[in-house]
Amino acid sequence: MKVAFFSSQSYDIEYFNRYNKGHELLFHEASLQESTVNLAEGCEAICVFVNDKVNAAVIGQLKAKGVKAVALRCAGYNNVDLEAAKASGMRVVRVPAYSPYAVAEHTVALILTLNRKTHKAYNRVREGNFSLDRLIGFDLNEKVIGIIGMGKIGEVFAKIMIGFGCRIMAFDINSNAEMEKIGVTYVQLEELLGIADIISLHCPLNDQTRHIINTANIARMKTGVMLINTGRGALVDSLAVVDALKSGKIAYLGLDVYEQEETLFFRDLSENIIADDTIMRLMSFPNVLVTAHQAFFTDEALSKIATVTLQNLSDIAEGKPSPNTVI
Ligand code: NAI
Repeated sequence: MKVAFFSSQSYDIEYFNRYNKGHELLFHEASLQESTVNLAEGCEAICVFVNDKVNAAVIGQLKAKGVKAVALRCAGYNNVDLEAAKASGMRVVRVPAYSPYAVAEHTVALILTLNRKTHKAYNRVREGNFSLDRLIGFDLNEKVIGIIGMGKIGEVFAKIMIGFGCRIMAFDINSNAEMEKIGVTYVQLEELLGIADIISLHCPLNDQTRHIINTANIARMKTGVMLINTGRGALVDSLAVVDALKSGKIAYLGLDVYEQEETLFFRDLSENIIADDTIMRLMSFPNVLVTAHQAFFTDEALSKIATVTLQNLSDIAEGKPSPNTVI
């Protein structure tokens, strides 16, 4: 199958070429949008990542070029207009779980860094500053972790935090008896917000969860709360969070995703003037840690993303049903 890859990075090329056995893969650095659809000319499928825009206009143009399938090399599919894809007869496949461990472990890395300030200690010690001033943290033991979205990633994260001696509260539209058996308590969102010392977002982005962290819900949180988002940027109203950081309501913020990340993440902008005032304001706080959508970024996850995506493409080429079909 001839496949046009959008938003390709060096690691995509390395891992997909390593596992490819017969597809013709054309790697493009450009992200997918209406102005770049032409790169899919002559291809039967496209392969996209989290910030490629597969909207109705793009789908219409893809269909006109004879593209029959969209292979997402990620789990989330909030960037695809599924109704438009369905109406066009376009197949959409994804990688539902490449490594929940990668994302859950990165979530823990954000928590530990924000709490114990190892990023600051690293720099201090290298400059000969062995003072402990302002590096004080808190024990995770017995703290309440509020997990919004107890799916594959939320479960792994909960198990790790139970190992730290934390109490786990979860809000999800479905409860999981297995998680209850190991000590997870399912509560309503309002209760979780009011009791959690650390709140971590692991639900998908959809109409119900967009800006689930907004001014009203922040007001329900404990003063001094730590908020971590490794889910999707738009789960959080960034301007509401800036206000809460200024007032001290949120005392620690860890973000691996950001609402406007498509104009920033996955590229080196170190010599550019960044026009997004909200991310610049967020990054100016000493108690904010931002990583650029790297939670998934492990060797195991990249291998799984490549092998599952290539199998999804083979299934489509052979007209077989795929267990990873979105529509
Ligand atoms: P999953 O589908 O296994 O779990 C999602 C959970 O959220 C489910 O238990 C579901 O019932 C729950 N949920 C759905 N709607 C909800 C609502 N309105 N309120 C509360 N809970 C709700 O997904 P998984 O694999 O755990 O991934 C979760 C999210 O993490 C993905 O949707 C994706 O956006 C994000 N992600 C981020 C990555 C990164 O590199 N930062 C990498 C992979 C995923």
